[in-house]
Amino acid sequence: MNVSTAIDTRMSCRAFLATPVPRATIVQILEQAKRAPSGGNLQPWLVHALAGQALTDFVALVRDKLRSQPLGEGTEYPVYPPNLHEPYRSRRFKCGEDLYATIRIAREDKRARLQQFAHNYEFFGAPVALFFSIDRRMGIDQWADLGMFMQNIMLLAREHGLHTCAQEAWAVWHKTVAQALSIPADHMLFCGMALGYRDETAPINTLRTERAPLEEFAVLRGF
Ligand SMILES: Cc1cc2nc3c(=O)[nH]c(=O)nc-3n(C[C@H](O)[C@H](O)[C@H](O)COP(=O)(O)O)c2cc1C
Repeated sequence: MNVSTAIDTRMSCRAFLATPVPRATIVQILEQAKRAPSGGNLQPWLVHALAGQALTDFVALVRDKLRSQPLGEGTEYPVYPPNLHEPYRSRRFKCGEDLYATIRIAREDKRARLQQFAHNYEFFGAPVALFFSIDRRMGIDQWADLGMFMQNIMLLAREHGLHTCAQEAWAVWHKTVAQALSIPADHMLFCGMALGYRDETAPINTLRTERAPLEEFAVLRGF
């Protein structure tokens, strides 16, 4: 698989098979992903990976908490800017509408939408969960580095026939995640990521999100 195919075939997978992913595969992906660039080569990422019983126990812990705290614990950082403006607002709206349309959930069916959203907290059935955190003293540039590391993982996953879904949904469970995984206190949780084999029969996985045309995000001069 070349980079173009990995990029073209990566999508946010929201239904996985239970098929386990060998530890060696995860180690290989992480070993390669660490070649991501970072300003000053700080490599400001920390990743925790869960599988097997550790993952089952963690999901059960969160499931229990969700009963009394359906909205989680609150976030340490704003997942979106307040009063999201255009064109971002419309893009976010469309992405949500298209997602729920794949599983025939109507706009007004808030309960069904929440139920679907709650699958985030089971990693959509994925056999591997990753959590990404970063030293609190780091700035926006190092957060960008962390994003590049995560993208490497998502693309390398494709090379192994695997799919992923980045999950900022976990930001509302940062205390529980930090405690359960012993994430150092000086680190802030950015997000989780589900990783595994895509369920090819799941309607939700048919979503292919749109992208703005080149003219909207690129300015080319002197060519
Ligand atoms: C940092 C980050 C966090 C995300 N968090 C979630 C999430 O919590 N739940 C979810 O279902 N999708 C999540 N997504 C997936 C985005 O909705 C998705 O990337 C976007 O709609 C584009 O679709 P695509 O990934 O299928 O190309 C996240 C993506 C990123 C990059």
